[in-house]
Amino acid sequence: MNQVIQRAYNFNAGPSALPLPVLEKAQQELIDFRGTGMSIMELSHRSAAYEEVHNQAISLLKEMLGVPEDYEILFLQGGASLQFSMIPMNFLKQGEKAGYIMTGSWSEKAFAEAKLFGTPYEAASTKAGKYKEIPGFDELKYNPDDRYLHLTSNNTIYGTQWQDFPDTGDVPLIADMSSDIFSKPIDVSKFAMIYAGAQKNLGPSGVTLVIIRKDMIEKANTNIPTMLKYSTYSKNNSLYNTPPTFGIYMLGEVLNWVKELGGLTEVNRRNEEKAALIYQVIDQSNGFYVGHAESSSRSLMNITFRLKDEELEKKFLADAKKEGFVGVNGHRSVGGCRASTYNAVPYETCKAFSEFMVQFQNNHK
Ligand SMILES: Cc1ncc(COP(=O)(O)O)c(C=O)c1O
Repeated sequence: MNQVIQRAYNFNAGPSALPLPVLEKAQQELIDFRGTGMSIMELSHRSAAYEEVHNQAISLLKEMLGVPEDYEILFLQGGASLQFSMIPMNFLKQGEKAGYIMTGSWSEKAFAEAKLFGTPYEAASTKAGKYKEIPGFDELKYNPDDRYLHLTSNNTIYGTQWQDFPDTGDVPLIADMSSDIFSKPIDVSKFAMIYAGAQKNLGPSGVTLVIIRKDMIEKANTNIPTMLKYSTYSKNNSLYNTPPTFGIYMLGEVLNWVKELGGLTEVNRRNEEKAALIYQVIDQSNGFYVGHAESSSRSLMNITFRLKDEELEKKFLADAKKEGFVGVNGHRSVGGCRASTYNAVPYETCKAFSEFMVQFQNNHK
C-alpha cells in the first residue's frame, strides 16, 4: 500500500530541512548504490565508486563558488565548533594576536577557544546593543600584523547577517559561514579561510567544509596533532582517515540540486523572496511582532522576532506547533521566535507561516 507522506513545515535551525528531491534520490540509491550492490555507507572510502563521489563534490564546490586556484577544499569532522579551536591552534602562538569581530554567541565561543593559544582581542563588538546588528566597516579595529581577523557571516541565534565583507588587505580574513554558506554568491578571494558545519545549507551533520588558501596551510604551526593540522587533510585529499562518506555524498547531491535550480544567484533570489514574506508581516504588524535585528543587518536565513508580551508569545509558539510549524522557538539562550529559512525550506512553507502570523495577529488584537 502506498503511504502518502506529509512533509513537515520545517523551520529547524540546524540540522534543518533537506531538499526533498535529494532525499528521494538517496532513498532510491540506498540499497544498491550505482550498481555496486551495496549502500554508499558500506563502500570502502578507498573504492573508485566512493572516490568519484568525493571528487565530484569538491569540483562542484569549486565551480559553483568560483573558488580560485590557490585554495583547497577540505572535508573535516568535529563541526564548526572544532574549527573554533583548530584555527588558533594552527595559526596562533602564545603572544600572537588575532582580531575577533563579536556579533553573537558563536563569535564568543570562537574567541574563547583562541584565548587558549594566543592573544586574541575584540576587533569590534555589537554586544552592548544585544547583537542586533553587524558593525560597520569603519568600526573594525585590527592591526596589519595580526595573524588573522575572524568573523561570523550569519548569526544563527540573533538573526543578523553580513551584507558585504570588508577588504582586509594582508590580514587573513577567516569566516564562520556555517549558517549561510551556499545561500548566495560570495567572493571567496576576500577570505583566507571559510568554514562551515554542513547541517544547514549543505547536507546532514557530520561533515565540516573548509575552504582554505594554500599559503595559510604552509604557514600553519607544526607542533600539533596530525588530525588537527589542515595540512594532513590537504596532503591526502581529505582521505587521510575515513571521512564521513554518507555526509559527503549528500553534500554533493545538495550541490547538484542547487545547480539544477539555477545556481547561487537563483537560490539567493528565492531566499530573498521567502524571507520577505515573513519580514513583511513583522514590519506591517504595528508592533505586534518585533524583529530582533536592525533592518540593515537582517538575516535571510534566520528570522528572529518577539511578540509584544510573553504570554502571547507562549500562545503563538503553542499554536504554531499545533498548526504543524516545527522549530519556531528561538534558541534556548535568547528565547523568542525564530524561523530558519535555509535553501531547502520551500516558498510554500514560508507563505503558510506568514499567513499563520497574520491570522494569529487578527485573532489576538
Ligand atoms: C554560525 C554557527 N557557528 C558554529 C556553529 C556550531 O556548529 P557545530 O554544531 O557544527 O559545531 C553553529 C551551529 O548552529 C552556527 O550556527
